[in-house]
Amino acid sequence: MANIVLFGGPGSGKGTQSAKIIDRYGLYHISTGEVLRDHIARGTELGKTADSYISKGQLIPDDLMVDILADVLDKTQEAKKGVVFDGFPRTVPQAIALDRMLADRGMKLDGVLGLEVPDEELVSRMLARGKETGRADDNPETIKNRLAVYHQQTQPLRSHYESQGRYHAVDGMGDVDRIFSRIMEHLDTFTKADAESVADATMSSGSEG
Ligand code: AP5
Ligand code: MG
Repeated sequence: MANIVLFGGPGSGKGTQSAKIIDRYGLYHISTGEVLRDHIARGTELGKTADSYISKGQLIPDDLMVDILADVLDKTQEAKKGVVFDGFPRTVPQAIALDRMLADRGMKLDGVLGLEVPDEELVSRMLARGKETGRADDNPETIKNRLAVYHQQTQPLRSHYESQGRYHAVDGMGDVDRIFSRIMEHLDTFTKADAESVADATMSSGSEG
C-alpha cells in the first residue's frame, strides 16, 4: 500500500480529501492538527503547549512535532497498511525527519500530493467553517498568521519535494468529488508501482532460490 503526504495551505481540503482516501483505499489517517487538538481537548501538558502556538497560528517546534509523530507511528499497527500524512511535514526539517522515520520502520513515502488553492478561497473556507463549527483558529487574525506562516515556512517544501521528483500538484478548486478523482489518478499510479516492485522483488528472490 501507499504512504502519501497531502500537502496544502490551511483550508485547502487536506482533511476532507483524507477522509475520502481512507474510505476508498483503507489507508490510515494521521492529521497532526487533529492529534494536537485532541491533546488540547483533554487538557494534557502537550495540549497546553500546543494551544499556545495554534492559537497564534504558529507552528509547533520541529523537534516536538517529530517526537509526536514518531510516537503515533509506533503506537499504530494499522500504519503498516499505508498512511495519509495530513499536515505533516510542514517544514524541510520535518520532511527530512519523515523520510528517516519511515526508513527506520521499513516504510517509504510514495509521493506528495499538493492541493493548490488560491489564498482568497482558503480564507473564505476557513471563515465559513469558523462560523459553523467554532474551530478556535478559524478567526480572521489567526487565519492571517496561518497563511503567512504557510507561505514563509511550509511552501518551501514544495520545491524540496519537486527537486526530488516527488511533488504532484492537484487542482484543489471546485467540487470535492472532482478533486478526489484527480487524487485517485495519482494514488492508482502509486499503488500500481508499489505492487509491481513487490512482484519484481518476489521474482528476483525466487530466481535466486
Ligand atoms: P491543521 O489542523 O493541519 O490545520 P491547517 O493546515 O490550517 O488546515 P485545516 O485543517 O484548516 O484545513 P484542511 O486543509 O484540512 O482543509 P479541510 O478539509 O478542513 O493544523 C492546525 C495547527 O496545528 C497549525 O496551524 C499548527 O499550529 C499546528 N500544527 C499542525 N501540524 C503541524 C506540524 N506538522 N508542525 C507544526 N505545527 C503543526 O477544509 C477546510 C474547509 O473547507 C472545511 O470547512 C471544508 O468543508 C471546506 N472545503 C473542503 N474542500 C472544499 C471544496 N472543494 N470546496 C469548498 N469548500 C471545501
Ligand atoms: Mg485539517
